[in-house]
Amino acid sequence: MKTLLDKLYIENDLSERELALLLQNMDSESEKQLFEYSSMLKTKHYGKSVYMRGLIEFTNFCKQDCLYCGIRRSNSNAERYRLSKEEILRCCEEGHVLGYRTFVLQGGEDSHYDDSKIIDLIKLIKSNFPDSAVTLSIGEKSFESYKSYYDAGADRYLLRHETASKRLYEQLHPGMSFENRINCLKNLKKIGFQTGAGFMVGLPGQTNEDLAKDLVFLKEVKPEMVGIGPYIPHPNTPIGKNSGGSLEKTLIMLALARLLLPDVLLPSTTALGTIDPLGREKALNAGANVVMPNLSPTNMRKKYELYADKICTGDEAAHCRKCIEGRINRAGFEVDMSRGDHPSKQA
Ligand code: 5AD
Ligand code: FES
Repeated sequence: MKTLLDKLYIENDLSERELALLLQNMDSESEKQLFEYSSMLKTKHYGKSVYMRGLIEFTNFCKQDCLYCGIRRSNSNAERYRLSKEEILRCCEEGHVLGYRTFVLQGGEDSHYDDSKIIDLIKLIKSNFPDSAVTLSIGEKSFESYKSYYDAGADRYLLRHETASKRLYEQLHPGMSFENRINCLKNLKKIGFQTGAGFMVGLPGQTNEDLAKDLVFLKEVKPEMVGIGPYIPHPNTPIGKNSGGSLEKTLIMLALARLLLPDVLLPSTTALGTIDPLGREKALNAGANVVMPNLSPTNMRKKYELYADKICTGDEAAHCRKCIEGRINRAGFEVDMSRGDHPSKQA
């Protein structure tokens, strides 16, 4: 395994077969080596900096029905909410005072928020906070819609591919197509967005071969950002009784993503912090360099429950800002409040 790891570290590339082999034969010694390599690459590109993004979950209405997700259309137990544009702006204001210079607007696929409302929102935020980046995470749209968001001033777009196994993708996403997902990601890149792909680890039926496909997919698409988190069962979903992804496997996938895309922006996800009290710190040590604390109003947070027992749902933005800084420092890193653009897209 050492030779494969060395090859990956030096060439930042391996075949799907080699990646699957690596995953299959990972022992504690190779894991240690892997994390050493991923940390070295992160330090080379980013030093000790960890970028902060303020997350605003502005609607949990969703027309999709993904089998794993707590805000899926068919979950009639989900209490639905939407923030108004004034409420969203207030979240940004609070975030800006706390030092945030990236706002991530995330929501379900909610047709109430049509293109003209989204464009309005982007323009409003960009005109009030011209020094800040706006990231959208609102699902699959047409090329024209994406282009109109970009023209309105949006800088980045997150659209996880969720799994690069077509079989698994179509099992988990009734009525959706894997081809369209890929096409959306390609369109986002083509338009000029800093684009985020990503996937869940430990989905029911997911094999090491499937995870190797996720890594090869990243290498092909070359996203500027990659979101990787453990799958966490949500009780009010059809697959809620399955087991979830492990901390260890998720850390391995984060480290491998860092080796394949050395200067990628790689969040230490809230989902990891949910399955292990030190999950986010461990992710920083495995190669992650971004955190996304929540700026949503606390009275709404519990409702944006994609998975069970999500952390921080009772905590004010200011509390999370401090909490996460302490965690970052204790892990040996430093908070960086700048926009934190991808090196290839720096102004
Ligand atoms: N467990 C972990 N992550 C989930 N997501 C959705 N549902 C779950 C779950 N049950 C992730 C998806 C989505 C992101 C916003 O949250 O990957 O893209
Ligand atoms: Fe929210 Fe620690 S980051 S309480």
